[in-house]
Amino acid sequence: MVLLRVEGLSKEFDGLKALDRVSFTAEEQEILGIIGPNGAGKTTLFNVITGVYPATGGEVSFRGDSILGKKPHQISRLGIGRTFQIVRPFPNLDVETNILVAYGHRFYPHLWNSTLPFRQPDIQKEIDALIESTGLQPYAKQLAKNLPLGIKKRVEIARALALKPRLLLLDEPSGGLRFEESVQLMDLIRKVRDQGISVLLIEHNMQVVMDLCKRIVVLDHGSKIAEGSPEEIRSNPRVIEAYLGKEG
Ligand SMILES: Nc1ncnc2c1ncn2[C@@H]1O[C@H](COP(=O)(O)OP(=O)(O)OP(=O)(O)O)[C@@H](O)[C@H]1O
Ligand SMILES: [Mg+2]
Repeated sequence: MVLLRVEGLSKEFDGLKALDRVSFTAEEQEILGIIGPNGAGKTTLFNVITGVYPATGGEVSFRGDSILGKKPHQISRLGIGRTFQIVRPFPNLDVETNILVAYGHRFYPHLWNSTLPFRQPDIQKEIDALIESTGLQPYAKQLAKNLPLGIKKRVEIARALALKPRLLLLDEPSGGLRFEESVQLMDLIRKVRDQGISVLLIEHNMQVVMDLCKRIVVLDHGSKIAEGSPEEIRSNPRVIEAYLGKEG
């Protein structure tokens, strides 16, 4: 079943077509890869889907309803969570409190700093379960700023999951990670999918995308230039040209 439908989506910045009539769908419980060279429009796509930027044209619907024009907190409440290309947990809060604050967002979008009311047994139980399922137990009491990048990224995913999304948008989760760290993160992403959550995955590392995704959408200069299985994408002349053209 289709969860997210993007149709003819466009976004211009002062005449620059960051997205040019992009269309694709994401199904229930799938990890859909979004790839493309630097500046292709991948992060812009996430920013438009999540209501950070208004679209210049086109349509985005989630579970059958249009979400264009809604505010980011409304979209997150409808069930679309995200992480950012640059990690941004609260540096001076420990992991547990970082996740607690995300829970707070679910109830009060603007009251991010009021964590006390949520120190309730049932909420604590949910947080403990989330910490466990994301492999964060050993770090629960550590300040976010002291954690290695791989664990910070895990915290970001846990924070997004606290909002109980149906769809999770991940912007280059393996960026900057060592090989073993990215393998562990990909295991977590697979686990998230197995819990029934769909994932849109922006990813530079081809090996990672090809391993994780059955279907991949390729953007270049704001346009979708290909869509298909890893095998189809790997041998697609337009994709090869888009990537080679950016080298040297
Ligand atoms: N807020 C903005 N104002 C003006 N131009 C922008 C803005 N955000 C993005 N752009 C431009 O839109 C284009 C697409 O950028 P975007 O960040 O979406 O690319 P990307 O595919 O995520 O690239 P990368 O792989 O480097 O993260 C780029 O030319 C970028 O400079
Ligand atoms: Mg980007």
